[in-house]
Amino acid sequence: MKFFIDSADLKELRDLAATGLVDGVTTNPSLIAKSGRDMLEVVAEICALVKGPVSAEVTATDHATMLAEGRKLAAIAPNVAVKVPLTPDGLRTCRALADQGTPVNVTLCFSPAQAILAAKAGAAYISPFVGRLDDIGTDGMQLIADICQIYRAYPAIRTEVLVASVRHPVHVVAAAKLGAHVATLPPNVLRQMYQHPLTDKGLAAFLADWQKTGQSILG
Ligand code: G3P
Repeated sequence: MKFFIDSADLKELRDLAATGLVDGVTTNPSLIAKSGRDMLEVVAEICALVKGPVSAEVTATDHATMLAEGRKLAAIAPNVAVKVPLTPDGLRTCRALADQGTPVNVTLCFSPAQAILAAKAGAAYISPFVGRLDDIGTDGMQLIADICQIYRAYPAIRTEVLVASVRHPVHVVAAAKLGAHVATLPPNVLRQMYQHPLTDKGLAAFLADWQKTGQSILG
């Protein structure tokens, strides 16, 4: 499973890139706004920091302007993936950009029907928002299961399932069990994945026993 980090915060991204576990980054207009940075500048810095795909989202809603924005975003760096919303104009733009060789991440997916359309439009990634479905009492992980089942039935589909709106490590584990290709994690969720009280307890016990030996590996 590939791990992308869902953030436009350069400090967070630098810290997490150092773990060696980060395969890409996703941003969206809300994350860019939260960063307080110029979008084109912060996307360029992220692309230089993380060599994997960096999703940068168009902000127009009409096809012509989305296409112009998408081309400008794609020109920032070779590892930009252009993000478009799952709308008729968004999928028209997806098809046009994909035909030009630009990877497209189709976002704001909330149904299997939408995911079928995104695959037909040539999306490199589909971003189903599991957390927002959970938030309204719908089983977000069932959407991931449905999409993975449908995509597996058609080997010609090259679209990768990029699980988004992740709220906690249980989402990541459940998505991995379903074989989703990617999860995009808020920084805190990746940090939470390391944590277990028995790991802490066991390490403390190892070190206490080692201390008693008076030895040092490095001399
Ligand atoms: O990449 C999409 C993600 O940022 C949405 O997450 O927490 O706003 O539902 P959230």
